[in-house]
Amino acid sequence: MADPMADRSRVPDADTGVDAGPVYEVAGLERSFPQPRTRLLAPSPRIAALAGVSFEVRAGQRFGIVGESGSGKSTLLRCLGGLEPATAGSIRFRGREIVGKRERRLGFLRRDVQLVFQDPMASLDPRMRVRHIVREPLVAQGTPGADARVAEMLEAVGLDPAAAGRFPHQFSGGQRQRIAIARALAVRPSVLLADEPVSALDVSVRAQILNLLADLVQRFELTLVFVSHDLSVVRHVCDTITVMRDGGIVESGPAEQLWERPRQPYTRQLVAAVPTLRRALSGAGPAELVRDAAATAGGDRSAAADEAHDPKDGR
Ligand SMILES: Nc1ncnc2c1ncn2[C@@H]1O[C@H](COP(=O)(O)OP(=O)(O)O)[C@@H](O)[C@H]1O
Ligand SMILES: [Mg+2]
Repeated sequence: MADPMADRSRVPDADTGVDAGPVYEVAGLERSFPQPRTRLLAPSPRIAALAGVSFEVRAGQRFGIVGESGSGKSTLLRCLGGLEPATAGSIRFRGREIVGKRERRLGFLRRDVQLVFQDPMASLDPRMRVRHIVREPLVAQGTPGADARVAEMLEAVGLDPAAAGRFPHQFSGGQRQRIAIARALAVRPSVLLADEPVSALDVSVRAQILNLLADLVQRFELTLVFVSHDLSVVRHVCDTITVMRDGGIVESGPAEQLWERPRQPYTRQLVAAVPTLRRALSGAGPAELVRDAAATAGGDRSAAADEAHDPKDGR
């Protein structure tokens, strides 16, 4: 099969000639939300979902973000995708600022960055046939040869192109996530942002979808930003890992280094709570995993360790 990405120029931002630098440069990023007022005339208190977050993502990197539920991962990813405004700070995408830009000025981001979410049932329109689901962003961008691309993409994610006439509910959870991935990659983005893409799936298909993502990232030379509450999952897919807690970054580093020699106590706790990928994928419940962690780490049964394995995270 012809490689659907073969004709894509791998020179980032070939139009402007600007680049060579990081894909994302995030500096002092903040995002807060108003909380319900506790007293009638008092100003509404705000909760900081992101508080002074700074990091860089380089081209071709598989950048993992891990943290317990509520640590700010989804908010961060939505800011990177231009789906949510930051309150302060800066996000430069290929050298261009996106914070404070109006929706219609973010075309350069929309063309190049696609997202995959946790729950494919919620992200796919149930009334649309798969063909139209995958075609929609292509048509929106005025891509010629959309039908051929749809077949190509379904094949790339391991689905029979003949299934293009079916509706989302006629597929399993894993297959639906494949459809969501096909849709995201159809427009040939250079960056894929994935928010808990296997957390809602049966444990039996998680490894398949993770392997598929890893293969596609390599084949299409994507830069990946991958968010999960589960360190074993992030480690399986990513070369760099950033640990978040309470809207800030705890620690960041090469995946193996962070796994073998975590510097921060909080990271050590996360690592201790994740015996093996095989174990996490085997369907072991939070209680069992924490029991394992307690045996490994000498009895630390913190809420953080519990949270880190809540399969319902982020729903
Ligand atoms: N739209 C929103 N309105 C109010 N609070 C929000 C909103 N989105 C997120 N938050 C709050 O921001 C914090 C981080 O949430 P989120 O980014 O979803 O974390 P995670 O993805 O790590 O679970 C949480 O305390 C959450 O309640
Ligand atoms: Mg989330």
